Amino acid sequence: MSNHFEYRDGLLYAEDIPVEELANQYGTPLYLYSRATLTRHYRVWTECLSEEDMICYSVKANSNLGVLSLLAKLGSGFDIVSGGELERVLAAGGDPARIVFSGLGKTAEDMQRALEVGVHCFNIESIPEMELLNQVALEQGQLAPVSIRVNPDVDAKTHPYISTGLKENKFGIDISQAGDIYQRAADLEGLSIVGIDCHIGSQLTELSPFLDALDRVLDLVDSLGEAGIQIEHLDLGGGLGVTYESETPPSPAELCAAIKTRMGDRPQQLIFEPGRSIAGNAGILVTEVQILKSTEAKNFAVVDAAMNDMIRPSLYGAYMNITEVNQNSNSPEKVWDVVGTVCESADFLGKDRKLKIAEGDLLVQHTAGAYSFVMSSNYNTRGRAAEVLVDGNQSHLVRERETVADLLRGEHVL
Ligand code: LLP
Repeated sequence: MSNHFEYRDGLLYAEDIPVEELANQYGTPLYLYSRATLTRHYRVWTECLSEEDMICYSVKANSNLGVLSLLAKLGSGFDIVSGGELERVLAAGGDPARIVFSGLGKTAEDMQRALEVGVHCFNIESIPEMELLNQVALEQGQLAPVSIRVNPDVDAKTHPYISTGLKENKFGIDISQAGDIYQRAADLEGLSIVGIDCHIGSQLTELSPFLDALDRVLDLVDSLGEAGIQIEHLDLGGGLGVTYESETPPSPAELCAAIKTRMGDRPQQLIFEPGRSIAGNAGILVTEVQILKSTEAKNFAVVDAAMNDMIRPSLYGAYMNITEVNQNSNSPEKVWDVVGTVCESADFLGKDRKLKIAEGDLLVQHTAGAYSFVMSSNYNTRGRAAEVLVDGNQSHLVRERETVADLLRGEHVL
């Protein structure tokens, strides 16, 4: 899906502002998000669904309050996995009745709070979790709406760390046991069964795993129906991939069309939990070249962003495109490893990249709107980057750069 980070006469713009200007104003490393891109990606999803269906943006992909508030204003629902994410959505003005609460280790406190605010549904991943929710609901005198997250044993054909729908993964309940567990849920007085949930992995680039999982889910809906358990919604999770390099994932419209064909005239509401396909291409990471260092084997461009700012290349060996902010440079083109200053050989943003750069130049890592800032850390006592949301020719600082004082807060010397 397209984005609003484009070159004009060789200079990269974020919507209508030159990226260089934003880097000068806010410093680097800097995350930039595009309001127009986030809006477009959300709408691309909703356009292919019916009014009653629901997009629950997966908060974990990018949980900045600026981003969440923008999506809340557009009417988005939210998929959350922790009490912390619940509070973020509420702080951003999200509608609790459009929240699905996923995650395999909800605490009693998380459950209490989610019941109190009235979330749409709890996605349950184990029997102990189901029993705990029942107990909490009874204590609060409430009925907890539940879906069981089933594990359909389908190969998502993605990186093993982000594949979740195989038997050996920790997620969900084996679909072959789900019938019995729904029966148990039906007997628990604090629970009301509302749906079925299934999420098989992330960065999927083919339709077939989604459809294979759907077929298994629909078989289960039918057998539950025969047993007198009616399912109101199908939550098909997130997982639709984006283009980092040359991947060609299906569009949301293609995915929805294929799913609707399979659904026929079934009455269930559809819920999706997209994260990356909404936020991924809506963000970039801007970094400044600090030092150019050549050894016998390699040319290293040492930049001011590092694995603490962007861990995807180090953790998954993920390829993310890196380009110059100003492509009119006179520097000779060379092949560079773009690395940070963290004391780990795994600290790289990209390897063997052809770039024309000099010290002080700005580089940009693309498709950094999802699973990027949210996975950053303070390793090596590095403050996390600033985040800025660009809207046409306006920019909004949606998270301040962390200072050393921020990092030391809460610690005590002996
Ligand atoms: N729903 C559930 C239950 C999930 O676990 C996830 C992602 C999503 C929805 C959203 O999936 P998406 O549409 O974003 O693919 N850190 C990894 C990705 C981890 C995905 C975790 N779950 C990465 O950087 O690639």
